[in-house]
Amino acid sequence: MKAFTSVNDVSNVPSFIKEALKLKQAPFAFQHLGKNKTLGLIFLNPSLRTRLSTQKAAMNLGMNVIVLNIDKEGWQLEMQDSAVMNGTTVEHVKDAATVIGNYCDIVGIRCFPGLKNKEEDYTESVLNKFIQYCNCPLVSLESATLHPLQSFADAITINEHWKKSGKPKVVLTWAPHIKPLPQAVANSFVQWMLKSEVDFVITHPQGYELAEQFTKNAKINYDQQEALQGADFIYAKNWSSFTSYGTMPDVKEDWMLTPEKLKATPDAKVMHCLPVRRNVEVPDSLLDSPSSLIYNQAENRVYAAQAVLKNMLESNF
Ligand code: CP
Repeated sequence: MKAFTSVNDVSNVPSFIKEALKLKQAPFAFQHLGKNKTLGLIFLNPSLRTRLSTQKAAMNLGMNVIVLNIDKEGWQLEMQDSAVMNGTTVEHVKDAATVIGNYCDIVGIRCFPGLKNKEEDYTESVLNKFIQYCNCPLVSLESATLHPLQSFADAITINEHWKKSGKPKVVLTWAPHIKPLPQAVANSFVQWMLKSEVDFVITHPQGYELAEQFTKNAKINYDQQEALQGADFIYAKNWSSFTSYGTMPDVKEDWMLTPEKLKATPDAKVMHCLPVRRNVEVPDSLLDSPSSLIYNQAENRVYAAQAVLKNMLESNF
């Protein structure tokens, strides 16, 4: 594996999940793989889980880890090719990424979308510049359009908690928020669920359709209550509009998941990637209930990252 930027970098999702669960049983079994190898984690945006879980995963594999919050601690980056840099930007991404790649054996990069220019975000212009110039294996720590480490952890969590035979019903339900958020977690979750052994439904208000490139083969139901019927796993997440790009048309507070909405599916597990705006996106009564898997998801971020890094280390790059 030379890059991990989407589910398309994984040849077989069910067997990759099994590999991560094996690592969870024996996290230190492959310490030799990372000896004298360096992982560089570069953040253009804030993080708690991604930073700590990926760092822990690398340490479990015996790697050295260096972290740069480049948005706060680095020089302001210029992203445009051939720019005359006589303004506020100090260092061109081609120089920064080339140097970072020279220091590291694997690079992780977090680069959120600006949510202003759909084309710029959906062509992953920043992520691709780092891939181009780092010249070493690269892991997405959440890009403009996708968050594959999160979705991999989510898929692991669903697999771990599904004890019945047959496929579980998994519902992705839009949740209210106070400000426009990226579509990355939702896009990515859709991609991973469509390659997993689950019956998958997306529900959201009109105007919040995700990009068709991700939802092409997905079931979409605009009636939340109908979509939730018979659900085994319910993933609540806000995202801003894709069609009316980066806006929050007609905010629907009544889309918040509530215990009342789950009366018909009392055994359904509730998921969220965190951070969560409590009592805006999902109420305390669900997040703190026995049905909640939020901390299990966060724990599995370690083993998702560890499976990816192990695969890269074994690729003998
Ligand atoms: N879920 C997630 O990626 O969390 P952080 O933004 O804190 O890394």
